[in-house]
Amino acid sequence: MDPDFKWGVSTAAYQIEGGHDAHGKGLSIWDVFTAKGSCHERHHGNTACDFYNRYKDDVALINELNIPNFRFSLSWSRIIPNGIGEVNPEGIAYYNRLIDECLANGIEPWITLYHWDLPHELELKGGWANREIVDWFAEYVRVCAEAFGDRVKYWMVMNEPMVFTGAGYFMGIHAPGRRGLGNFLPAVHHAVLAMAEGGRVLKALLPEAEVGTTFSGSYIQPKTDSPKDIIAAQRVDALLNRLFIEPLLGFGYPEADLPVLKKIRKHFKEGDEAKMVFTFDFIGIQNYTREVVKHSVITPYVNAVLVDAKKRQVPLTAMGWEVYPPAIYQMIKKFNEYDGITKIYITENGAAFPDTMVDGKVIDTERMAYIQNHLKQVKKAKDEGLEVSGYFVWTLTDNFEWNEGYRPKFGLIHVDFETQQRTVKASGKWYGKFLGGD
Ligand code: BGC
Repeated sequence: MDPDFKWGVSTAAYQIEGGHDAHGKGLSIWDVFTAKGSCHERHHGNTACDFYNRYKDDVALINELNIPNFRFSLSWSRIIPNGIGEVNPEGIAYYNRLIDECLANGIEPWITLYHWDLPHELELKGGWANREIVDWFAEYVRVCAEAFGDRVKYWMVMNEPMVFTGAGYFMGIHAPGRRGLGNFLPAVHHAVLAMAEGGRVLKALLPEAEVGTTFSGSYIQPKTDSPKDIIAAQRVDALLNRLFIEPLLGFGYPEADLPVLKKIRKHFKEGDEAKMVFTFDFIGIQNYTREVVKHSVITPYVNAVLVDAKKRQVPLTAMGWEVYPPAIYQMIKKFNEYDGITKIYITENGAAFPDTMVDGKVIDTERMAYIQNHLKQVKKAKDEGLEVSGYFVWTLTDNFEWNEGYRPKFGLIHVDFETQQRTVKASGKWYGKFLGGD
């Protein structure tokens, strides 16, 4: 593969850091959501992988595995405890130490500014449904760019806005646990405006930086060839794959394929069409599976349902997601079709399986095969001349998998959550050897 191809591993602050109230950190919506017992077996991220204290050891492990690029996110409420106003110097100091540790180990830090952990104080003011969040977010981005921009070249403004708006503001299964279109549609619009504005702030302050943002992308197929299923699949595709990228590229929301999106216009202010547009240097695609869709009269707004992978007699991960490697190729192809996208990185791909530790070893052949088979599809895309410039495994260590708690294990490295002991799994050893060239 091309020597400039970026190989990496991805993580997110709330899923690994712990230190939820350490050194002046404010509460995030995930601290509050988990404290209510909203996740699997009341799990929470108060300690998680204790990455806040163990970052040196974990960066050393990344180094041992020959992984040259490390993607992590910043906790907004660690840096600005109330989301707006005073900056917490200890939060800044922590990320300075982490960035410096990466650089000292020859590892390139890739920063995600927002991986879902909104400061709780901002949620009290309406969170993503309040338009003022565009300004709050722009200020947070400015603080981070000024603090870390001298050493960090790669930036991602957001992680999967479809998931934090959909699961957090429509379905209520992620923090802050809100439901319904009345929360979802303004949250979508403000996330789009904030994403574009965040891109502008970064580029203005750090013109040399590579600035991107990341999207979830699942390959969508209709269950049958019937026109109803085909149209249902188009609606789901508009919702899951096109809703956030198309306004950035200047096409507006995909209303023609999903008419309910016309209701977003109610939240428009003059000049928004232009403010929604921003040309990112790269787009991060995060793919895990495909979805099969069928028409449904009873499902509001989309008139479509996903056919549960468990009912399709297909290989599954511990998340109940189908293992379908060609999906990653299809997503690379789909995003290549947009003229406005010139660079693509796969910023997440990976799988949860029920690992077992035997004699101190985790031989996770399923995860290894999953990654290898997805990489074959990435290579196929590249060989066909499609743009794809990097691949990041999700994730470094087993961690807090949001509403599923610690049940699903996605790591290249096993974590014993009683002792915090790390054990590199067979998949991690393989990835390390592969990247080390032996
Ligand atoms: C998210 C991660 C998550 C992973 C597996 C992605 O949607 O960015 O935070 O852990 O998928 O569910």
